[in-house]
Amino acid sequence: MQVISVVNQKGGVGKTTATVNLGHALARQGKRVMLLDFDPQGHLAACLGLFRLPPGGADRLLTGEGGLDDWAIAVSDWGRVVPCGDALAEFEQQDAGVQAMGNLRDAIDRAPPDVDYLVVDCPPSSGRLIVNAIVAADEVLIPVAGDYLSLTGLARLMLTIKRLQPVCRSEMRKWIFMNRFVARRRLSREVHEKVREHFPYSLLCGVVSEAAALAESAGTGRSIFDYRPRSKAATEFSALAEDLVYQRVVANEQETTSDVA
Ligand SMILES: Nc1ncnc2c1ncn2[C@@H]1O[C@H](COP(=O)(O)OP(=O)(O)OP(=O)(O)O)[C@@H](O)[C@H]1O
Ligand SMILES: [Mg+2]
Repeated sequence: MQVISVVNQKGGVGKTTATVNLGHALARQGKRVMLLDFDPQGHLAACLGLFRLPPGGADRLLTGEGGLDDWAIAVSDWGRVVPCGDALAEFEQQDAGVQAMGNLRDAIDRAPPDVDYLVVDCPPSSGRLIVNAIVAADEVLIPVAGDYLSLTGLARLMLTIKRLQPVCRSEMRKWIFMNRFVARRRLSREVHEKVREHFPYSLLCGVVSEAAALAESAGTGRSIFDYRPRSKAATEFSALAEDLVYQRVVANEQETTSDVA
């Protein structure tokens, strides 16, 4: 099982949107997908239209009560989700760090065999929950929305991930993608260019454009593939999932282009 944690300490950049839609895109490519809500805001279940939730979820995984399978519920017909549980916020403050980290790792090691990808939606903070989610992951996916403040945050986040590498579960792969991209907006293009310049081996080839349909789909509790399967946003998320699976980053694209030239 591959664990992908979707992180960015900046709020509203598209972490939950990416978790839902990449999760469904991976499922459409034949992968067996489970989503894990690591954000006490509980947006993930809400975006999926799930309101009748089990009494626990990610919070119980951190206290060592039960495994992923025990707290997972079905999402439509394409996957399963483990909600955050009512007590998750307490872990951000509590000094239960090391124990909780061990418990989460155990839960991941004991994951059901019928899961190919566990996609973890993280909160907009840089506290304990994020550290746990990074340390438990095989891959980290960072959505970046197009403004200059995102760039300073991104550099800091990449450094944090690098520092955590020695205690990580595996050799961490770091992916970045541009969200809310607007090709005709200069700022969008400039931020994309800067990220390409600084992190060419992490920046995935595809972008996700600004699309009202994405915000609407969350409101209806469905992924973009259930809400507007033929939209540009659905096509972009499918392509992004392929980028992730086949590790298509702009550096390789640049190399290929220069080879041809
Ligand atoms: N590409 C996009 N086009 C238009 N709206 C988008 C796009 N991506 C995300 N949004 C909208 O922006 C808002 C924030 O997105 P989302 O909740 O995914 O961000 P987040 O990083 O998970 O936020 P938080 O940090 O609070 O958890 C939501 O209303 C979402 O529907
Ligand atoms: Mg979110």
